Amino acid sequence: MTLVPSPRTLLFTAATAAFATGALAQTPAAPPADFAVCSACHESTAKAGPSLGPNLFAIGGRKAGSVADYDYSPAMKTYGAAWTADNLAAFILDPAKAVPNNKMDYGGASDAAAAKAIADYLMTLKG
Ligand code: HEC
Repeated sequence: MTLVPSPRTLLFTAATAAFATGALAQTPAAPPADFAVCSACHESTAKAGPSLGPNLFAIGGRKAGSVADYDYSPAMKTYGAAWTADNLAAFILDPAKAVPNNKMDYGGASDAAAAKAIADYLMTLKG
């Protein structure tokens, strides 16, 4: 009696895990309507460079203030955290409170639900 799983079991497990993490999803999520204002200052596709603000592609898990070709404020460079759905939502709701003295000229989303919708969308922007 051996406990080694069959190749078929392993394949099924890998496919299930990939599906669960969205790795097999081919269609990017549609941005919430409130994302339009962000797009005035931010690119959000893989090959785009910085605009007025840094490119937001693959922002989830990235350390704040870490895109090499963008000139961040000292505040954003020293914030230190990696971006998650939670700290993105807090930043989008009230940028000046979440990262004091940052240079993003945006007053914040209308409410927590709108901020969360944008943050959740940002987390889907990955390669
Ligand atoms: C008026 C222009 C402007 C608008 C509008 C704007 N941003 Fe920004 N954003 C910036 C700038 C400039 C920075 C750099 C801040 C710094 O270095 O202090 C920035 C930084 C960021 C960062 C940190 C990026 C990193 O690489 O660490 C995130 C996340 C972000 N913005 C998301 C958003 C979202 C989401 C919206 C819409 C709700 C938005 N921004 C609207 C200009 C803007």
